[in-house]
Parts: sequence; structure tokens; C-alpha cells
Amino acid sequence: MDTVNNRPVGVFDSGVGGISVLRELYRLLPQENYIFYGDSANAPYGTRPTAEVRQLSLAVTEKLLSRQIKALVIACNTATSAAIQRIRQQYPKLPVVGLEPAVKPAVEQFSKTSIAVMATELTLREVKLQKLLERYQDQAKLIKVPAPALVEYVEKGELNTPEVRTYLTGLLAPLGKLSSIVLGCTHFPFIKPALKQVVGTEPKIIDGGPGAARELQRVLAKANLLNSSAVQGKVTFYNSNPDPAEITLSQRLFQTPLD
Ligand code: DGL
Repeated sequence: MDTVNNRPVGVFDSGVGGISVLRELYRLLPQENYIFYGDSANAPYGTRPTAEVRQLSLAVTEKLLSRQIKALVIACNTATSAAIQRIRQQYPKLPVVGLEPAVKPAVEQFSKTSIAVMATELTLREVKLQKLLERYQDQAKLIKVPAPALVEYVEKGELNTPEVRTYLTGLLAPLGKLSSIVLGCTHFPFIKPALKQVVGTEPKIIDGGPGAARELQRVLAKANLLNSSAVQGKVTFYNSNPDPAEITLSQRLFQTPLD
């Protein structure tokens, strides 16, 4: 029966990184159906001008809406910074969940320490993050760490290679002792095993995926849109890059253990 509640949740990212969020959504809400759209043909978003990312995000949202989604998860910190306001304005009835670097939980757990906030250049320069950092700047030393090459590595399916570890060492070694590392880009949870090899077990690695899943649950419950089916939901992958290897990579990332 086609009730609104059976319709899929649309999830998108600039590429395959948002699959780290999709996995958390599926873990918490396995009865939901999901359509994941990776815009890999246009990745990375993080090095583009804000207006361009807003345009690309609106175009992907329209594509997902044409597939009858009941809610949208912007599984991309960069697209959230650039476009969530505009998407909400344009589609006021659509429940929308966005991603933002998990600075608040990091500072709450590790006040008066050094915390690295890894994200794309766009996320780090946008007003949304500036305000977040200003709110917590007296409580911890928050260090902005742009890491654009990591997006490219994950897009190629390179998650824990010597190149990835060398790049991470170059970024993080000069920062000294860190209590925690906030993964403010949805591509980054896929490099968690490499990151742990580089920094050891001491700094806690914090990502926003589980929080986004809880937020989706709240938003769907509030709108009476939770799927009450007893059957597991379906996950469908689309990608703007027509190469079938993108779908193979998407499925592989969906299954990759992150811890
Ligand atoms: N995955 C994206 C994010 O969460 C952006 C990666 C990119 O395309 O630069 O910020």
C-alpha cells in the first residue's frame, strides 16, 4: 500500500561520503526505505564557491523530490552550510535534517583541551561554523583543520593506504596533544581506521552521523511519518557519475566496518 509513511527518505551528499550517515540512519531506523544520491560527478563541493554548492544542492533535492521522498537528509556538512536555509524556504512542508560538525558534544566532554575540527574549506569559512566556534571558544582550544584531499581519497575508495596515513600525519602532528578530533565532513568517518593508526587511541574521534540519525527519528515522529512496517527497508543508490563502479563503491562503503 502506498501510504506517505512507506515513501523513502532521500539522503544526499557531494559524493559517497554521506554513506557514513546513511549507515547510521539505517542502523537506528532499519524499517525505513532510503534513496541515496551521491553527486560524485560534481565532487568535491568543499572547494567550490558557496553559491555554486547551493545550486547543486537544490538540483539534487529536486531529483530526490521527483522520487516521492517524505523527508530529506543532507548528509553533507558542506551542502548543509551552503543550502539548508534555502531548501527549507523553497520546500517548507518537507522535513529536512542537516549535518553540522559535532563541536558541542566535543566541548562538553573535553572542556579546556585542544580539539581539532576537521572539515572542508567551505564548511570552515561559512558563518554557521564561525558562530558555533564563537559560542564555544572560551571553553576549549578549537583548531580548524581543512582536509580537502581526504574527500578525494574516499571518492577513489582509498581509505587506509600509506598515502592517506602520510597526509593525516602531516595535518595532525604539528597540532600537538589533542583530546578529540571532530569529523566535520561525512567523508571522514571512512578514514577512521587510518586516523586511529596515526593518532593512537587517545584522542576521541567524534562524528555527527549518530546525532543526525536521532534527529531524523525525532523529525519523522513529530510529523507522524515513521514507517511502522515490520519488514526491513530498502536502500537504493544513485550517483551523478554514470560509471557503474560508483554504485559498487557505494555498496562497499555501506558495508565497511568503521570501528
Ligand atoms: N561530504 C561533504 C561534507 O560533509 C563534503 C565533501 C566535499 O565534497 O568537499 O562536508
